[in-house]
Parts: sequence; structure tokens; C-alpha cells
Amino acid sequence: MDKLKIENFNLKFDIKNKDLLVWNNEIIMSRTEEDYFKKMFIILEKLNLCANSILEIGFGLGISSNLIQKHLLPTKHHIVEIEANIFKDLLVFSQDKSGVVATLGDWRLTDLPEKEYDFIFHDAYDYGAISEYAKFSYDDHYLIFSKILKDDGVICHPHFGDGPVRDVPGFKTTIVERLKVSPITMWDQSICEDAAIVLRRKC
Ligand SMILES: C[S@@+](CC[C@H](N)C(=O)[O-])C[C@H]1O[C@@H](n2cnc3c(N)ncnc32)[C@H](O)[C@@H]1O
Repeated sequence: MDKLKIENFNLKFDIKNKDLLVWNNEIIMSRTEEDYFKKMFIILEKLNLCANSILEIGFGLGISSNLIQKHLLPTKHHIVEIEANIFKDLLVFSQDKSGVVATLGDWRLTDLPEKEYDFIFHDAYDYGAISEYAKFSYDDHYLIFSKILKDDGVICHPHFGDGPVRDVPGFKTTIVERLKVSPITMWDQSICEDAAIVLRRKC
């Protein structure tokens, strides 16, 4: 892993509005994911997970941030966003929410407290096309998660399609539910109507 990389940047988006973020001809986030996320957080609320201290990676359109506030009621909701214009939207979001802490940066290069989080929602678009964007492997991400997650904490990330969910060393993976969702326009404009709720716990 290469740590000598920039910690935030300012992009020129092809499209940036309340429903869509497009950069480099790729959809970073689209409101078409909202139905999936709404269903996911309603189900997560019913699981009664401990979610006092939450880390959310990537603000995007703020859809999951709003749902986390509504369904998981965290005492502390730390959101890390790498892109400066999206970060401005995050600052607006955080203004009237006492427990929200907003950080501009690359979460992998940010000094995050050890064994702090009950729940981590990881939904970061990979800016691999930018040479200065730090390259970390999937397993590297989980090495960081294992340090900052509480021993009984959980990690959740979107899973698109009806295919298998990859295993991660040191974590037990649970597919809580497979869902049919309203059509989602993916990064490459393809359409997806299957999704899953995936949780990972330390083992
Ligand atoms: C798919 S969007 C997140 C969508 C969000 N969950 C929502 O509901 O709108 C991905 C976000 O991750 C941010 N991001 C990408 N890499 C990141 C990194 N290394 N650290 C922090 N944020 C990152 C992007 O700028 C973008 O805002």
C-alpha cells in the first residue's frame, strides 16, 4: 500500500446535482439507489444492532447519511469524504445534527481512533483513474477496519447483483437478506434490480 498520496481533491464533475454525481463518464452515485438503501436501513433497524458510534465512508448524495440518522439514531456519526465539493454538501448536512462529525480526507489516510466504531458503512467509489489516489487492496481495507471497529462491531457495505459475496480474512460474513429493488443505474449505465444486505463481524 502506498501512503504518500493526496488526502483530498477537488473534481470537475460531468454532472453534480441532488440526484446524480457523474465524473469521468462514470456514475459515482445516483438516486436510483435510494429504494435499495431505504429497504436496507429499515431491515438494519429491526436487527437492533448497537450503533452508538458510526463511521460512514463517502457522503455522495447523502442518501445513506440521512437513513442512518433516521433508522440507527447514532450518538456519534463520523462521516469521511475525500472530494471537496461533496464535502461542502456534507458540511451543510451536518449543520443541524449535533452528533455528526465531518472530515475531509481519504479515510484510509485519516487517523481514526482504535476500537471506536459499533457500525461502519463503507460505500466509497474507487477513484482509481486518478494517479494520486492511494491504492489499497480490498484486504488492506479490512486490516484498517479490524483496528477501528469494536470487537462486537459490524461492517456493512452495498452489494449489487445476486452473485456471491467474497469472504474477507478475519471476518465472518452474513448475508442478512437478498432483495429485489427498483432499477439501479450502475457506474457504467447498466441496470441492476438485485441487491443484498451484507454484514461482516470480526471472528
Ligand atoms: C457511492 S458514493 C457514496 C454514496 C452515499 N452512500 C449516498 O448514499 O449518497 C461514494 C463516495 O465516496 C467518496 N470517496 C471515494 N473514495 C473515498 C475515500 N478514500 N475516502 C473518503 N471518501 C471517499 C466519493 O467522493 C463519494 O462521495
